[in-house]
Amino acid sequence: MTTTKTAPAILFVCLGNICRSPLAEGILRKRWPNQGPSEPPIFDSAGLGSWHEGDPPDARAIRIARESGYEIAAQRARQVRSDDFDRFDLIFAMDRNTLTRLRDMRPSEDSLADLHLFLDYTENRVADVPDPFYGDETDFCAVVTLIEQAADGLIARATRAT
Ligand code: 4NP
Repeated sequence: MTTTKTAPAILFVCLGNICRSPLAEGILRKRWPNQGPSEPPIFDSAGLGSWHEGDPPDARAIRIARESGYEIAAQRARQVRSDDFDRFDLIFAMDRNTLTRLRDMRPSEDSLADLHLFLDYTENRVADVPDPFYGDETDFCAVVTLIEQAADGLIARATRAT
């Protein structure tokens, strides 16, 4: 008999939810191995700010993602909400400033979600996924590479744990 484990829910958070966290959501969804007894996690993303609520990801993020094999155009930005801290098992901040803001927002010590810095899952010593919004395509490419490294680190850890 095969048993199916309940899928964890994972949220990625950055500032605007149009560049880094939608890329993380799309890259994890694509790279997560869809085999074995566990259901794949539920992936979502959100931003600290509400400026881009309802918007698709930045056109540069959509284009660079597509060139790397990830489709993120259907995602829509939203602001992080207090109930996210009980709807998600894990919340990953894309940089240290976001992690600090999320810790301040956390409604209770008893909230379900564990908060982590996303790049804690890479081997290298970079702490923050740099904000590419005011940068160029090279910056978006570097962000995709960093997120792919952290995604594979996260998948390796999750796979070892099951
Ligand atoms: P993100 O990038 O946090 O990676 O989505 C940004 C997008 C928009 C803004 C800032 C950062 N903004 O100020 O509108």
